Amino acid sequence: MMVEEGAASGSVRGGRVTARAHALVRARMRGCEGVIALDATVGNGHDTVFLAERAGASGTVIGFDVQEEALAKARARLEETRFGGRVELHCLGHERMGQVIRDSVTVAMFNLGYLPGGDKTVITEAGTTVKALTQAFGLLAEGGLITVVVYRGHAGGKEEAEAVKRFCASLNESAARVRIIGEGDSAGETPFLIAIEKRGPGAGAKLEM
Ligand SMILES: C[S@@+](CC[C@H](N)C(=O)[O-])C[C@H]1O[C@@H](n2cnc3c(N)ncnc32)[C@H](O)[C@@H]1O
Repeated sequence: MMVEEGAASGSVRGGRVTARAHALVRARMRGCEGVIALDATVGNGHDTVFLAERAGASGTVIGFDVQEEALAKARARLEETRFGGRVELHCLGHERMGQVIRDSVTVAMFNLGYLPGGDKTVITEAGTTVKALTQAFGLLAEGGLITVVVYRGHAGGKEEAEAVKRFCASLNESAARVRIIGEGDSAGETPFLIAIEKRGPGAGAKLEM
């Protein structure tokens, strides 16, 4: 079942969607040590730093981006922190994450679209995004969380949003709990958030989401 929040109450805009994703991930990672967190779209590295801080000294963050320019910005941001040693960055499409990740993942963050301040023609795309989500869900530990910040205002954004929603709808209700947050008018252009929690016998307490 997909629960939708925001259609009646107005959409959650811009940075608020990212803040909401961070709040969910923060709650899921609380008390976790030594886990693997995935940043599927490293970009300028804000989410990478956020995950690295929470992964703890024995944790690992694995990040993917197709642009060296983005990874360089993320590396520079990580150098300003004490957490760089826990981060592996790959200049590789997230649709190939299965070639790199062998262990189960506790959280995975996707922040779709283009690199802010960068080349706006390099965007995440429906086909590869769904391939990556499929792999991320397969790698996710029971009780693990995927967040997807979806943008619809650029060319291809609406198609990608619909593809992500179709992927979510295809997940078996006994395998996943899905929440769509802040979509508002489904024909609109505002960003929204999808949270996917993996169910299972070892899943533990449900997240408030
Ligand atoms: C909105 S930005 C990510 C913002 C980032 N999470 C942050 O905190 O700064 C989206 C990123 O996705 C990247 N991207 C596009 N296609 C990709 C793919 N197939 N695999 C991985 N990253 C991709 C773009 O290069 C861009 O840097």
